[in-house]
Amino acid sequence: MKRQAMKKILVIGANGQIGTELTTALVKLHGAQQVVASDIQALGRHQELAYEKLDVTDAKRLAEVVQQHDIGEIYHLAAALSAKGEEHPEWAWNLNMTGLLNVLEVARQAKLSKVFWPSSIAAFGPSTPRDNAPQVGAMDPKTVYGISKLAGEHWCSWYAEKYGMDIRSLRYPGLISYSAEPGGGTTDYAIQALFSAADGSAFTSFLGEESTLPMMYMPDAVRATIELMSAPKENLKTAGSYNLAAWSFSPRELVCVIQQRVPAFQAAYKPDFRQAIADAWPRSIDDSSARAEWAWRPAYSLSEMVDDMLTHLAGRKSLSQEKQVA
Ligand code: SER
Repeated sequence: MKRQAMKKILVIGANGQIGTELTTALVKLHGAQQVVASDIQALGRHQELAYEKLDVTDAKRLAEVVQQHDIGEIYHLAAALSAKGEEHPEWAWNLNMTGLLNVLEVARQAKLSKVFWPSSIAAFGPSTPRDNAPQVGAMDPKTVYGISKLAGEHWCSWYAEKYGMDIRSLRYPGLISYSAEPGGGTTDYAIQALFSAADGSAFTSFLGEESTLPMMYMPDAVRATIELMSAPKENLKTAGSYNLAAWSFSPRELVCVIQQRVPAFQAAYKPDFRQAIADAWPRSIDDSSARAEWAWRPAYSLSEMVDDMLTHLAGRKSLSQEKQVA
């Protein structure tokens, strides 16, 4: 009997901060023939791949793309982040919730084998213990983004329980990367600091100097995603989205690590509306379920991340003021 061709992977939001690097990793793992990139922009970043311009809030078009490309797995990364979401609440809610519900519904109807969808530390809130936020406990998000992540976690569980679907998810901490700009998050100050250190421009942190948050380097986040998605289903005992951690730091601590490498680097602090967002999030995360169930371990230390970022950013242009606020 002829072997059936393997179904393909669709990445939604492939041009974004996570999508850009996750798509590259999926191509390395499965081959360019197996991966279809999509984003709301007309052009894709991955020239070697099939690309679809796709607005994930358009359910009909999403279903067409899934059918046309014989998709078996979706990584749904298109989302509005915390800071931009507070400025445009209805847009953020619609993108985050309609987008996710469209993905879950097409996954049910087309009987996809797996879905990946990211949650975030933003799903926690002031009632969550600020240190070592537990896998299960009080969650009272205070941003539109956080509310959409917590509601999304519940929707994923509902689809998984009701229809027996395989939906996997991580609560990412603040992600640091150089390949693509982040989409308006509260943790983006760290990326701005590293860009400024690399190009010698002035850096003003929009969070106060003692504002400690959980953070991770993108290569670790990408590897966590792939390891979770490849783990045998019977090992995954935790219902819902896994806590995930690497390290926590404050703007002052990051600036110190940067100054050890770039002594001239200086920071000013001018907290804005994003401070209140950060103040409602935990300082650190207990990721022992991820460690126990699918052997999660971060690889990069904080200083290795800073070294690697500065190496990659050397000679790059600064983030424009407009982009920093976007
Ligand atoms: N990095 C995200 C943000 O700041 C957190 O999930 O919005």
